[in-house]
Amino acid sequence: MTNSETKATLSFSDGSPALEMPIYKGSIGPDVIDIRKLYGSTGMFTYDPGFMSTAACNSSITYIDGDKGELLYRGYPIEQLAVNGGDFLETCYLLLNGELPNADQKKEFVATVTNHTMVHEQMQFFFRGFRRDAHPMSVLVGTVGALASFYHDSLDINDPHHREVSAIRLIAKMPTLVAMAYKYSIGQPFVYPRNDLSYSANFMHMMFSTPCEPYKTNEVLVRALDRILILHADHEQNASTSTVRLAGSSGANPFACIAAGIACLWGPAHGGANEAALSMLEEIGSVDNIPNFIAQVKDKNSGVKLMGFGHRVYKNYDPRAKLMRETCYEVLQELGLQDDPLFKLAMALEKIALEDEYFVSRKLYPNVDFYSGIVQRALGIPTALFTGIFALARTVGWIAQWKEMISDPEQKIGRPRQLFVGAAKRDVPPIDKR
Ligand code: SDX
Repeated sequence: MTNSETKATLSFSDGSPALEMPIYKGSIGPDVIDIRKLYGSTGMFTYDPGFMSTAACNSSITYIDGDKGELLYRGYPIEQLAVNGGDFLETCYLLLNGELPNADQKKEFVATVTNHTMVHEQMQFFFRGFRRDAHPMSVLVGTVGALASFYHDSLDINDPHHREVSAIRLIAKMPTLVAMAYKYSIGQPFVYPRNDLSYSANFMHMMFSTPCEPYKTNEVLVRALDRILILHADHEQNASTSTVRLAGSSGANPFACIAAGIACLWGPAHGGANEAALSMLEEIGSVDNIPNFIAQVKDKNSGVKLMGFGHRVYKNYDPRAKLMRETCYEVLQELGLQDDPLFKLAMALEKIALEDEYFVSRKLYPNVDFYSGIVQRALGIPTALFTGIFALARTVGWIAQWKEMISDPEQKIGRPRQLFVGAAKRDVPPIDKR
């Protein structure tokens, strides 16, 4: 972060003294105006609901250029990482450490994660308290938060070793917890992790194997899942990451912070959109119904949105959506489902929307969630678990951002202010006068 030559001057039409504010430059992307002195100097706050024009921190982890449709993890384009950049654990190492691992570093990192994939045997009893049809995200919020009760040895957030140990535990145990949530929902026994399988193959094993017969993973499907995890690993200061940072700024332990991130990701406007997008496609049903559905979307009173479309930052095609569509095609081909009606419906809907003025004028393009439901369904993942997979993948991004926030000398407890529009001070009338 460097000081720009240019300063920002805030002047007031009523002749109040102008305020000069420094402008900082990052390595790439928009500059920022440092407004930290604004309230002290003017007694006024900025007003920015939804933080549309607010940089809450400086970060070196993930960069998005919404106009170009560009996404970089530590400077590496997502297209390279997802297609020829190795596997998800390499991306995890990159996000956590800032550089891709060499062969020895990767071997050590994989071994460390692999040897932390089991959860405490007592964790299973938390699951038994949930209804079998509980939404997996409610189970994950509960069980991830509960992990803190087993690791009092690594909750000192000011100890770098504790932060490292917690990061590994969370990355390693999320697949186990997500698979346990699935097994519990279908009444099958929990499947222990296997240390002889890769991260994604192990997850498929814990999800789909049973004690009754050997389970053989399909390498094409494992690779597809691994790519899905890479695409979802991090995404700058999105709602759930900002939630994790805000929770962490109070000194809350990492398990509590990740549980808060999971809770935020659950929302249909955020991580819940993949589940909502697939339900939308199933509701549309056929290509013939697309014009009627699009008409509903354009009718503001309908409250209907084209789920999996639009993005706060991307005003161009979400690069992850392109890669997700390719992965979708590969998986459907592998499974002999290339004529899958929902995939064809999604591609038809995308084509129509991208030619429609309503979406073009609002720069609404497919985002990561538009195709992810179709490919996850083809992988055998139940719809209700789609956002759980998103949380599994995003855990590394949340943890990397949380670690960066903790080590940032500028970080303080997050405490936004408000524009108060309620009742000014008044006296309480006795009840017979109300
Ligand atoms: C994720 O932030 C991240 O990085 C998130 C994420 C990540 O990796 O962490 O990328 C993951 O959350 C992807 C987004 C998943 N959500 C959805 O697909 C749900 C559908 N999308 C919308 O809800 C919406 O596009 C948002 C929430 C994603 C973004 O909303 P914004 O930036 O607040 O934009 P907006 O609501 O102000 O929309 C601008 C206009 C409005 O119309 P007008 O008032 O100008 O007439 O576009 C319209 C909106 O009504 N609009 C849509 C639309 N999204 C926006 N209209 C129809 N369908 C949509 N999907």
